[in-house]
Amino acid sequence: MEVIVTPTPETAASAAAQAVLAGLPAGKPPVLGLATGSSPLGLYAELAAAAAAGRVDFSAAKGFALDEYVGLPAGHPQSYRQVLIHEVCDVIGLPLTGLNVPDGTGATDAALEAGAAAYDAAIREAGGVDVQILGIGANGHVGFNEPGSSLSSRTRVKRLAAGTRRDNARFFADDADVPTHCITQGLGTVLDARRLVLIATGSAKAAAIAAAVEGPLSASCPGSILQWHSDAVVVVDETAAARLS
Ligand code: F6R
Repeated sequence: MEVIVTPTPETAASAAAQAVLAGLPAGKPPVLGLATGSSPLGLYAELAAAAAAGRVDFSAAKGFALDEYVGLPAGHPQSYRQVLIHEVCDVIGLPLTGLNVPDGTGATDAALEAGAAAYDAAIREAGGVDVQILGIGANGHVGFNEPGSSLSSRTRVKRLAAGTRRDNARFFADDADVPTHCITQGLGTVLDARRLVLIATGSAKAAAIAAAVEGPLSASCPGSILQWHSDAVVVVDETAAARLS
């Protein structure tokens, strides 16, 4: 695992974007794994600048979301499909036809589970993810794989941890509106990507980064799976690096 410590969130975004670009294949459209959340926004802006400068072309790219809420109606502004349309597709020029998001609208558990299995199949059919962009939760979660998640898990339905629902309540009018379940790529699915690039900034992430980078490889910190990957890059600013030895 490569760990890059940079002075500021802005320099972290720039370094993370370089790590993403360096992992993209030459001569074929890229397949990106896409995280939502605050952490990668600067990285996406840097990728947009690289595309505008002609250093990369996302016009035939495919994107695979890390996760999606269960139970939000199609088109809900806080669904991750809508968030990714606005924060990634519109920004870097990834076509809407290339955007793949787990289907959280299934009416039954069986329909949701079938959608989750179909999602893993779609990633395989696309030839796998070239670079998976990741954030990390303060409790070490990756995607919506909360502590205790199986290290070999595939895309599946999960209940959201109470703390994660509290963290995400800021995006909803009322706490009760925050979905209780999600569909998330499993940790095994994430590990299948050819390169992982995780970006974290701010002191709230310092403990999670220390556990992910220097703690044991353990389901108690899902972010520690990056230690298991042969091409993982962790980019942090100085405040998120504060508890690294
Ligand atoms: C996002 C995701 C989450 C976030 C994590 C950090 O698709 O799956 O794991 O990456 O919660 O969120 P931010 O970046 O908002 O601190």
